[in-house]
Amino acid sequence: MIQVQSLTMRYGAFEALKGISFEVPERQILGLLGPNGAGKTTAMRILTTYLCPTSGTVKVNGLDILKQADQVRKLIGYLPETAPLYPDMTAEEYLTFVGQARGLQGRSIRERLEWTREACQIKTVWKHRLSELSKGYRQRVGLAQALIHDPKVLILDEPTSGLDPLQIIGIRELIRELSREKTILFSTHILSEVEAMAGKIVIINAGRLVAQGTPNELAEEVRGLGEIQPNPSLEDIFIGFLKPQAKRGEHV
Ligand SMILES: Nc1ncnc2c1ncn2[C@@H]1O[C@H](COP(=O)(O)OP(=O)(O)OP(=O)(O)O)[C@@H](O)[C@H]1O
Ligand SMILES: [Mg+2]
Repeated sequence: MIQVQSLTMRYGAFEALKGISFEVPERQILGLLGPNGAGKTTAMRILTTYLCPTSGTVKVNGLDILKQADQVRKLIGYLPETAPLYPDMTAEEYLTFVGQARGLQGRSIRERLEWTREACQIKTVWKHRLSELSKGYRQRVGLAQALIHDPKVLILDEPTSGLDPLQIIGIRELIRELSREKTILFSTHILSEVEAMAGKIVIINAGRLVAQGTPNELAEEVRGLGEIQPNPSLEDIFIGFLKPQAKRGEHV
């Protein structure tokens, strides 16, 4: 459903992505894992057509993100690092506004508003101004805006960041539930997060893809690197892949 090929992004002289390639099959959850500054947000901004890559191609459902950007946008729901909320609107006003901007009207918008209100559990704050909401509820409303037009693909940049443990469980359950009918790419630097949610993991560091596969495949591969115990945790795996780069003097 998502095909990323040799993606490179330069900000001036600085290369934030250095030719990464990976795929997300339909109805799978892929966790993009990497430390701060790895390039996760940059990759997501390119996939969602907010940024133009320096080189490389990305296809979403066969559509090219550069040549068919408008069609790609319709397919994608995007939750950026900071949810893009208008503080003076209530949750209801904001989601109505976003839904209309994405072409929903009449009965279809009423149905989607009701669905997101239930699915994202934002009933209690429905009539509250967004400026009054706690971080967890702001994140839920952010997720609701990503879902309002019922997109096939969800791109979530650190969806559980800043939430308390109960809220994290709630959001994880919702994301898993959504993956029954949607393709989901999310980023995180929290290892337990990918372990809990993702079928496939892509590890990036300093703009390079250092490993990809299922947790089991990565465990196998990292054992081959030699420096790791027989039954590595995901944390051992992560460190195992980052260490060789650090030894070569690359930024970790
Ligand atoms: N607009 C920009 N101009 C210049 N450099 C940028 C810009 N945006 C990001 N960068 C740099 O690109 C690199 C990758 O940043 P990015 O935000 O993609 O990382 P990230 O993996 O999302 O990190 P985090 O976990 O902290 O969110 C960083 O070194 C960052 O400073
Ligand atoms: Mg980021």
